[in-house]
Amino acid sequence: MIVEKKKVYIETYGCQMNFSDSEIVGAILQEHDYEPTIDMKAADLILMNTCSIRDNAEQRVRKRLNELHSLKRKNNSLKIGLLGCMAERLKEKLLEEEKHIDLIVGPDGYRSLPQLLEQVDSGQKAINTLLSVDETYADINPVRLGSNGVNAFISIMRGCENYCAYCVVPYTRGKERSRNPNSIVREASSLYEQGFREMTLLGQNVNSYRWEENGLPLEFPGLLEEVARVNPLLRVRFATSHPKDLSDDLLVVMATYPNICKSIHLPVQSGSSRVLKLMHRNYSREWYMERVEAIRRYMPGCTITTDIIAGFCGETEGDHQETLSLMRWAAFDYAYMFKYSERPNTLAAKKYSDDVAEEVKSRRLEEIIALQQDLSLSGNRKDIGKDFEVLTEGFSRRSMDDLYGRTSQNKVVVFAKGSHKPGDYVKIRINGCSGATLKGICL
Ligand code: SAH
Ligand code: SF4
Ligand code: F3S
Repeated sequence: MIVEKKKVYIETYGCQMNFSDSEIVGAILQEHDYEPTIDMKAADLILMNTCSIRDNAEQRVRKRLNELHSLKRKNNSLKIGLLGCMAERLKEKLLEEEKHIDLIVGPDGYRSLPQLLEQVDSGQKAINTLLSVDETYADINPVRLGSNGVNAFISIMRGCENYCAYCVVPYTRGKERSRNPNSIVREASSLYEQGFREMTLLGQNVNSYRWEENGLPLEFPGLLEEVARVNPLLRVRFATSHPKDLSDDLLVVMATYPNICKSIHLPVQSGSSRVLKLMHRNYSREWYMERVEAIRRYMPGCTITTDIIAGFCGETEGDHQETLSLMRWAAFDYAYMFKYSERPNTLAAKKYSDDVAEEVKSRRLEEIIALQQDLSLSGNRKDIGKDFEVLTEGFSRRSMDDLYGRTSQNKVVVFAKGSHKPGDYVKIRINGCSGATLKGICL
């Protein structure tokens, strides 16, 4: 007798690491009684993999939970579970506050999902928010949820111990730990064989990756080299680099392998050394500028993207101007820009006062965004007339006659499809742009 599997719908919020975790969750459940579905209405179980990084990230989940509540009223066999950082941060409290949640599991507890779901099926609530010192899910072969078949994420480490004063991640993700490199290279090779052509190695601070076996240490530059050697047609990216740990060794490896993409995400957070110190970032404005110069020295044309927080505790107008001047100096290609949001229990919440007025935060953020739009546009204009190898990812949203893909520098390019298809490398000459995309023609 064929027993039909139950259907699980997984909705993911937050960073790429969370998306990668959802693929691990999908794999663990697929080994048991469940199969992933993309149709929420058909689901027996809805899992929300949540983010706590800013208050608005949590508010979004709360709103969604209200919507799911009404689904549950219509279908009382539907189960709802909360995974990820918000589950870890709020633990049992969530079960009290959100009565229709059946299950709470933190980022290190996903192997226990099948047992917890049995408990849920027997009518109880279930919770596991234990953090681990060694869980990396190394042996689990993720199901590629919602994949385009070209790009994939590989998690190479978990947790973070940098304790930046504003950040909730060390509390929700636990201790930093690296994953066995053999399992990483095996995953990259298997993805390549399945047709994937671009892999992003993920960790909160990939530069502190470290594995030791038989007294031989392997650090991030060595790991990156091993993944790059899987196949020259496999593009490799990574995120995120902490500026304090970005080494010349890494830049040398990047410059050596054409298939390691020439793009670095290097979150600066603030252009003021005084604020960086308050943030516990462990680098100064000058250190950051020197690292940017090193990148340009080893790899002219490498793009640099960043994260910026506006209105951190004690930020003065002068500090804000330093952020703007650093942005101009570095000419960032792209930035993720945020208003500071105080997170409970972080060092900043305990020790500093969230003293920049809301309207000042908003105005500073707007100035940062407006400047970045100018910088992105002028960066893109400089590419007009140049040729790039583009890895095709899919059809353009606007027209089925156009494809889109990315340059090694991580810029999106739209071009007429000709005889090409997703997964192909295409040589493109850039002949137009907006702030967000390049346009080009096949050569
Ligand atoms: N590990 C990465 C960042 C992870 S969080 C790093 O160290 O760079 C992604 C971004 O969210 C951070 O770079 C920061 O810019 C932003 N962020 C984190 N906590 C925040 C907070 N409390 N308020 C506003 N933005 C925050
Ligand atoms: Fe948060 Fe800092 Fe760790 Fe990044 S490095 S995850 S900002 S604590
Ligand atoms: Fe959010 Fe957790 Fe990632 S707080 S940004 S989902 S590590």
